[in-house]
Amino acid sequence: MNDTDQKNLINTLNLEYGATYRYALQTTRFNHPRAVALIEGVRRNEADHIALVMKRLEAEAGPAPEGFKSLFLHLKLNLVFEYEAVKFYGQYYRETEDPVVRETFRELMKAEGGHVRVFEALIQELEEGRFPKVFLCPLCGWEIDFSTDASTGTINRCEKCGARYELTIVEGDFTLKAV
Ligand SMILES: [Fe+2]
Ligand SMILES: [Fe+2]
Repeated sequence: MNDTDQKNLINTLNLEYGATYRYALQTTRFNHPRAVALIEGVRRNEADHIALVMKRLEAEAGPAPEGFKSLFLHLKLNLVFEYEAVKFYGQYYRETEDPVVRETFRELMKAEGGHVRVFEALIQELEEGRFPKVFLCPLCGWEIDFSTDASTGTINRCEKCGARYELTIVEGDFTLKAV
């Protein structure tokens, strides 16, 4: 896959994410059963598109920090998306002659710049092995903290419900296995 293909797949993903959320919001907003049912059908179809495009992008993903394959890829894709948002809002900011519209894009640009830094920080934490290995207890939902240098095979107990879990990796992602 060349750079253009990758860029176009990422652009497609961004559009389909937007579509999914658009239709999800509309199904909660309207109370006309016929419209809701059809919009929900379209939403599911858009969600399938996300899965299809993600499959292509996953196949091309580079190496990731151990146990964080999916999260790392998604954060990288989020970062690309936020870079695009900053770029477009900057362009719209410069194009407008309307002060109210300009203020809108200035605010959006600032927010998206913040999002860029959020994802850059998370990616850096993962790359440097500083990202917390904290997982929600599959039984009760409490946080189970494995230390940042914990590796597979480490066993920990939930402080709230007492369930015991071993840190394992399934398809590149950390998973808690009940023991
Ligand atoms: Fe954003
Ligand atoms: Fe628990």
